[in-house]
Amino acid sequence: MVCLGNICRSPLAEGLMRSKLNFTKFNVDSAGTSGGHKGEAPDKRSIEIAAKNSLDISQQRSRKLTVEDLEEFDYIYVMDSSNLTDVLGMTTTDSQRQKIRKILDVSFPGEDLDVPDPYYGGDQGFVNIYKMLDQVTTSIGKELESKEN
Ligand code: 4NP
Repeated sequence: MVCLGNICRSPLAEGLMRSKLNFTKFNVDSAGTSGGHKGEAPDKRSIEIAAKNSLDISQQRSRKLTVEDLEEFDYIYVMDSSNLTDVLGMTTTDSQRQKIRKILDVSFPGEDLDVPDPYYGGDQGFVNIYKMLDQVTTSIGKELESKEN
């Protein structure tokens, strides 16, 4: 799960995704394209909306996406078009490029939707992205459990 800072959107996506997959079969992680918040815990507002929904993401720490990640992970979900451009810019092979998908394309194919960056907005932005990510990680969970079993 990839966003810009790895403190708002992708930590929620990671926590939600992990809660919906069999942890013995799937390794779920998140990272940011910028590295500007490296080592930090998720944004308070992300921790809060997760906690309200009984999900603890407070132990996650921000890290920067690496070229090794593009090899290690089978599926790479980015939050918006700018993340997509940045991650595609790090790829060197078609097999890496084929792993990368804008996350909302799973639920809304062809619509090119972004999970909007909530960092500079208010709490409602976090409620909204939580709902989007909750819904789409359920769909991804079903897709991956059926594909990988
Ligand atoms: P994220 O949100 O990409 O969802 O983690 C942001 C976090 C920090 C910044 C931008 C977006 N920032 O500019 O510091």
